[in-house]
Amino acid sequence: MEVVICESPERIGALAADAITALVAATPTAVLGLATGSSPMSTYAELARRCSSGELSLAGVTAFLLDEYVGLPPGHPQSYRRVIDRELVAHVDLDPARVHAPDGDASDLPAAAAAYERAIAAAGGVDLQLLGVGADGHIGFNEPGSSLASRTRIKSLTDRTRADNARFFGGDPQAVPRHCLTQGIGTIMAARHIVLLAMGPGKAPAVRQLVEGSVTAMCPASTLQLHPHVSVLIDESAAAHLQLASYYRQTYAAKPAWQGL
Ligand code: F6R
Repeated sequence: MEVVICESPERIGALAADAITALVAATPTAVLGLATGSSPMSTYAELARRCSSGELSLAGVTAFLLDEYVGLPPGHPQSYRRVIDRELVAHVDLDPARVHAPDGDASDLPAAAAAYERAIAAAGGVDLQLLGVGADGHIGFNEPGSSLASRTRIKSLTDRTRADNARFFGGDPQAVPRHCLTQGIGTIMAARHIVLLAMGPGKAPAVRQLVEGSVTAMCPASTLQLHPHVSVLIDESAAAHLQLASYYRQTYAAKPAWQGL
């Protein structure tokens, strides 16, 4: 795990965009795993800037979202498919037909989850997965207690996650769906490179647990310690509880591993 402590969300976004730019330069048909929520927004803004300046093209890329709410009416502005269209796809040259999300509107949700796993496998697996982390340590919507070997499936959101996401639903936790389809922890762990983004003091306990705590289902993100190539890009406030912060600063700040450390 490389832990890069950055001075700003913009720097986090630039480093994540550097990793994607390098991947796509080597493999123009790369497969990206995309997260929604606030954490990837500076990355998406930087990808949009690079695409519009001609520094980057995502035209050959395929993308898979991590998760989708169950039970939102079709076209709801907070469905993750709509969010990614609005926040990223509309601003880059990604082909919308090659951007995939679990079908949270399917009449047979287990079949939709299985089909999503097959689609990821048929695309050759995910080359680079962007992740946020919940304040409770969730990745995707794998809440505490999730199987560390899980694949895409239905999950119920905790009250804490619904409260955290109420800001996207007019401040009302009851308006946040109770269920979702999410890639499992096993699905996420199969990605070849995982880039986790976290900003703000509210993420400091989860970042401490995922980087330096025990591997436990009570913090699903801690499973990432078992992955061979994880980049954790965080700001100073999210790094505030890390015991080895000065070591990470010395080791990773100047030259993250994907730049040749
Ligand atoms: C989003 C997702 C979630 C978020 C997490 C952090 O697709 O799967 O795990 O990454 O809830 O959300 P933010 O970034 O809004 O703090």
